[in-house]
Amino acid sequence: MLLTVERLQTGYGRLEVLHEVSLAVDRGEIVTVLGPNGTGKTTLMRALSGVLPAWSGTVSFDGRDLGRTPPEQRAALGLCQLPEGRGIFQTLSVRENLDLGLVAARRSPVQGRADRDRVLEIFPELSARLAAPAASLSGGQQQMLALGRALMSRPTLLMIDELSFGLAPRIVSELFAIIRDLRDDGVTFLVVEQQASVLEVSDRTYVMRDGRNVLDDDSAVLLRSGDLAGSYLR
Ligand SMILES: Nc1ncnc2c1ncn2[C@@H]1O[C@H](COP(=O)(O)OP(=O)(O)OP(=O)(O)O)[C@@H](O)[C@H]1O
Ligand SMILES: [Mg+2]
Repeated sequence: MLLTVERLQTGYGRLEVLHEVSLAVDRGEIVTVLGPNGTGKTTLMRALSGVLPAWSGTVSFDGRDLGRTPPEQRAALGLCQLPEGRGIFQTLSVRENLDLGLVAARRSPVQGRADRDRVLEIFPELSARLAAPAASLSGGQQQMLALGRALMSRPTLLMIDELSFGLAPRIVSELFAIIRDLRDDGVTFLVVEQQASVLEVSDRTYVMRDGRNVLDDDSAVLLRSGDLAGSYLR
């Protein structure tokens, strides 16, 4: 397994949010964590990226126990996160935002030129707007920019917190098609969502509720079981 999380417990102050959450992601998979508002999805992302310390349990990535490894070192190891709300710097240009992705990988803009060219091939809409401030982009384009910036750091495992947030279904489908292509090119994905529609693009899904694992299976199996949204998400 590329990522293994075992009995992870964490929270804020005295509030325990994750109650012994376990999951695993194999190389080349798209794995979804599905759960309603406030269930601890973002908290899980924070714990995996290292900004929130684990209280107990283990996280191992690419064969090493991450323990207290700080976020920038995790990113340099290839464990990267696309944060909730995208984390785009609105006043910086599209190009400057993309190049920020190189910082995590400790490479210079010159060293990253080929990566930028590749990202712009994947997202031609961005190449026409390289010098424009990120604030001038549509919501879908901003999500492309966030994805593009993450790709600049050549992630092994890319964690995405609510790719679909605030976007029209058509745009979400386009982005998921791109994610499948990237997966075929060797990137592994852990996608956290509250919309059950991600089951259509992911290989396996963990359903979380109130900070606990409640169910996991192949996404196709969960889709066939039908009443997932009814029983777990509302
Ligand atoms: N910084 C914080 N301080 C204290 N409590 C927090 C903090 N962030 C989140 N929480 C609490 O932790 C719980 C889980 O929140 P979290 O943001 O992880 O959920 P989520 O599944 O990502 O929800 P959403 O779908 O709304 O993004 C909630 O009860 C929330 O109020
Ligand atoms: Mg969240």
